[in-house]
Amino acid sequence: MDTDSTHRAEDLCAFIDASPSPFHAVATAAARLEAAGFTEGTTDDGPGLRYLRASGSLLAWISGPGRSTGFRVLMAHTDSPNLRLTPNPDRSTHGMRQLGIEVYGGALLNSWLDRDLGCSGRLAVRAGDGVDEVLVRIDRPIARVPQLAIHLDRGVNEKGLVLNPHIHLSPITGLGEAEQGAFLAEVADTAGVSTADVLGFDLMLHDLAPATLAGTSREFVSAPRIDNLLSCHAAVDALCAARDDTGGPTPIVVLYDHEEVGSTSATGAGSPLLRSLLERLLDGASADFGASLACSVDGAHAIHPNYADRHDAQHVVHLGGGPVLKFNASQRYATDAPGAAQVRLAAERCGVPLQSYSHRADLPCGSTVGPITAAATGLPTVDLGAPQLAMHSARELCATSDPGLLQALLEELLRA
Ligand code: CO
Repeated sequence: MDTDSTHRAEDLCAFIDASPSPFHAVATAAARLEAAGFTEGTTDDGPGLRYLRASGSLLAWISGPGRSTGFRVLMAHTDSPNLRLTPNPDRSTHGMRQLGIEVYGGALLNSWLDRDLGCSGRLAVRAGDGVDEVLVRIDRPIARVPQLAIHLDRGVNEKGLVLNPHIHLSPITGLGEAEQGAFLAEVADTAGVSTADVLGFDLMLHDLAPATLAGTSREFVSAPRIDNLLSCHAAVDALCAARDDTGGPTPIVVLYDHEEVGSTSATGAGSPLLRSLLERLLDGASADFGASLACSVDGAHAIHPNYADRHDAQHVVHLGGGPVLKFNASQRYATDAPGAAQVRLAAERCGVPLQSYSHRADLPCGSTVGPITAAATGLPTVDLGAPQLAMHSARELCATSDPGLLQALLEELLRA
């Protein structure tokens, strides 16, 4: 494994570990942008390196003289499927304290069993007459969902594991009777705020095992939230690398929350965030659609050696084989012929191998932000991303070499 791609993969691990919730992912991205000279602001602050946060979403862009009214947009998402706390989470059963949870997104439920879980998210905290937002994370193993012993579930290996999200996924947090508000008091204490001042929270559980390189020659990244922090990481660093370019299309990065639950929210891909940024940057001028390309960057399904029949034989995607262009006739992916051509030309210029993905015609295909933002902005759009295994597991897998290849391609796509 060459050292450059190993460094990129280790840097990705650090990015993921720093980002257990979408709000932390935004903070992690903002810190990187700040370090590269970006300042938090709006289009009113004039041309320059700018970013703005919108809850669990973030927009960043470079504007100024020499930049055209063509746009190069990289889009990714900050959220991942997980277990989220309900408003009154404390409960107890048979002398054990438990948490009420809701499943967020299309999680592989079994992957949350028998893991040491921490808790992270944000608190809305009373501050004088206003409300402050406070990020919080507990990185101690405070919650666990134990699987039922095989002696009490004899058919599980033959019939498969069936989990009712309301009944079987409630984590245990301790022994004794639960008092309503006790868990929140623990979280508030960690955040250094008074429980009485916590007026709202968005809290979720995360696997505490750190992201790591794995495999006999460290060929793999084993980590939570590869979908889609891998793409956030690559997009942000590609934008940072574009800061010294002069001229060319205007580069934009959008990291959206709520992709895993359909993108319909005030800050998701269905929101006006990107369209209003484009309008403000254009300031009455017309967009040069011919010089524009929006890239929706999200995970792609690599072939699983134990389930090779789940893939279309003509579109086998390999871990370590480079970024993947994703196609779907029903527009679950937005890639079309001219968009694919743009990406292929960019890949040729920077010497990055490309793979193509098409879902089996007899299986329903997943989707992502590309078709949604394409419909809202009219920008020519493609869907692409790095190959991975175990998508939507609490612990996913990708190749050590792919994050660096994706980033090289995104840098080239921002360039022209
Ligand atoms: Co995704």
